[in-house]
Amino acid sequence: MRLTCSLLSLFLVGGAGAQSLSLHSPDGHLVVTISDDNNQPSYQVSLDNQPLLSDSRLGLAFKQQGEFSQGFAITSSTRSKSDSSWQQPWGEQQVIVDKHQQMTVNFSRGKQQFAVNFKVFNDGIGFRYEVKKQQGMTDNVDITNEYTEFVIDSSDQAQAWWIPARGWNRYEYIYRDTPLHEAARVHTPFTIKHVSGVHLSIHEAALVDYAAMTLNQRRDGTFKADLTPWSDGVLVKKKAGFTTPWRTVQVGRKAVDLVNSHLILNLNEPNKLGDVSWVKPGKYVGIWWGMHLGENTWGSGDKHGATTSETLRYMDFAAKNGFDGVLVEGWNIGWDGSWFHNGDVFDFSQAYDDFDLDRVSQYGKSKGVRLIGHHETSGSVTNYRQQMDAAYDLYQQHGVTQVKTGYVADGGDIKRIDARGITRHEWHDGQFMVNEYLHSVTQAAKRGISINTHEPIKDTGLRRTYPNWISREGARGQEFNAWGTPPNPPEHVAMLAFTRMLAGPMDFTPGIFDLGFNGLDGVNRPQTTLAKQLALYVVLYSPIQMAADLPRNYQARPKAFQFIKDVPTDWQQSIALAGEVGDYIAIARQQRNSQDWFLGAVSDENAREFTIKLDFLTKGKRYQAQIYRDGADANWLSNPYDMVIEHKIVNSAQQLKLALATSGGVAIRFKALD
Ligand code: NOJ
Ligand code: CA
Repeated sequence: MRLTCSLLSLFLVGGAGAQSLSLHSPDGHLVVTISDDNNQPSYQVSLDNQPLLSDSRLGLAFKQQGEFSQGFAITSSTRSKSDSSWQQPWGEQQVIVDKHQQMTVNFSRGKQQFAVNFKVFNDGIGFRYEVKKQQGMTDNVDITNEYTEFVIDSSDQAQAWWIPARGWNRYEYIYRDTPLHEAARVHTPFTIKHVSGVHLSIHEAALVDYAAMTLNQRRDGTFKADLTPWSDGVLVKKKAGFTTPWRTVQVGRKAVDLVNSHLILNLNEPNKLGDVSWVKPGKYVGIWWGMHLGENTWGSGDKHGATTSETLRYMDFAAKNGFDGVLVEGWNIGWDGSWFHNGDVFDFSQAYDDFDLDRVSQYGKSKGVRLIGHHETSGSVTNYRQQMDAAYDLYQQHGVTQVKTGYVADGGDIKRIDARGITRHEWHDGQFMVNEYLHSVTQAAKRGISINTHEPIKDTGLRRTYPNWISREGARGQEFNAWGTPPNPPEHVAMLAFTRMLAGPMDFTPGIFDLGFNGLDGVNRPQTTLAKQLALYVVLYSPIQMAADLPRNYQARPKAFQFIKDVPTDWQQSIALAGEVGDYIAIARQQRNSQDWFLGAVSDENAREFTIKLDFLTKGKRYQAQIYRDGADANWLSNPYDMVIEHKIVNSAQQLKLALATSGGVAIRFKALD
């Protein structure tokens, strides 16, 4: 349905021709109001008449054409609505409902014009700029400022959870829990608790050919878009006639409502790859943790991890225990010396002498286990670009269908050589790299290869459009527990669930069973119980999950290992049941094409008990609950292995009391019985 609203029929409020247009969510509770008071385009957001965002500025500035903001007035608008659903080929939820109201608001000043397209869902809003080709804007357009603001109502009483932007460690910071006014320059998703108790997450969707939006707090409570610049200072380089990514605000009455929102996916374009049945979720093991612990090396020598014999050993272990793939890092030339600083010497087709690519891929095929490829670039992206076609071809020839990429380099230190041969250094989240990451994904897609990006650009839901972008890092993962200063604190996962995970899947690499490789009192260790390591497989969604520990540590604890063998990575539906940001979370997920459900719950540094209803289970069915929980004496610090495995018959009418130790967890498989 499309309605056109002429200038005359606009609802007039305020003085001197100021106009105001409102757009309601389908359930009527959430309202966006767009206005041009004092010829300044702006918007506000409220929930049940309670303001959440007060008057927040809109607009862009261009190098050649100046400011498209102040002085612009509303000239017309069009509305439409949608009530549909679509399916994910793989995911945390198969069917996604897309119900929203939409309005495009046109602004102009003389002959200059731009539009803002708003969509309001029950779980939040999205808007993006649409700038048409117009007089004075026909060719290259350099964006030098984006004025978009998010002005938080009653900001002095709001709380925020965030990581800093434009830092050397990209997205790999410990999340901070502060009064809102202390959040200076932050990455998104940026999570806020409003004084009313409503939770907000500010982020973006469909970040394509544009710079990532970080947020800068100016006056208290006013967060302004702060686009990550190119090395020459320009923020974004476009051709005339463009749209921006969607700026999003997810809104939840409870913290878990943010986790249950599908707004980011709904604002992305449908699948552009056609048949993607070749993209396979699954579980993998790999030659990986040994390097992080220092038992092995990526480079050559006595401790070289990526040898043929070691790969065959992992393939045997994978085949025996039902894993689909074996990741091998360090097989290709370039790791010797200081690989972190030496990305230019990586050769993506040349193996070390003790690694036989033909042999391991043949062996894998005979065992039904895939070799998972790896490309560490150390941020030397021109070196990677030059070899990319040949490197992906080589993997394709060897039946490799999934490649983990890596861009280890400090923020702002991505090295590229431009068309004139000049070396430039870019940010991981500037427009240049946004395009570079997507280039790798689309080139891989041509060869039936899925990409798992480490040191990535943040996720903005592009897995909908490019389903072979199967996972990514983009936060502190398990690796920090091996060597991070400091390692991830006990609240880390309860924090990730309400922040980073709102963006999309994460390759966290769970499942470390030897929690005391430096002694339990060593600084570096997973600061969790064993049961919590199991719970991560359900809590931290990814269609590919690693069993990250060394085979010997799984062999030592076969009963606990059973849960990792049983847990799937592809789901029919997911429900976040309970939780508070940074404190705890419980999530239930139904296995795809199955009646079985799984539940994962984790706690922060506090032990806690809470009760969950089992009403997500099918009515009238009996289930065997296979429960892996912290023992009565468990605590993460001195007694992390105390875990009870018990089986109970349950049904949907029952409740289950969960008792979690300090930094503890519980993992449950509900096996349908009849
Ligand atoms: C950082 C990645 O996160 C990690 O998983 C990988 O082992 C190293 N880079 C080396 O590529
Ligand atoms: Ca990393």
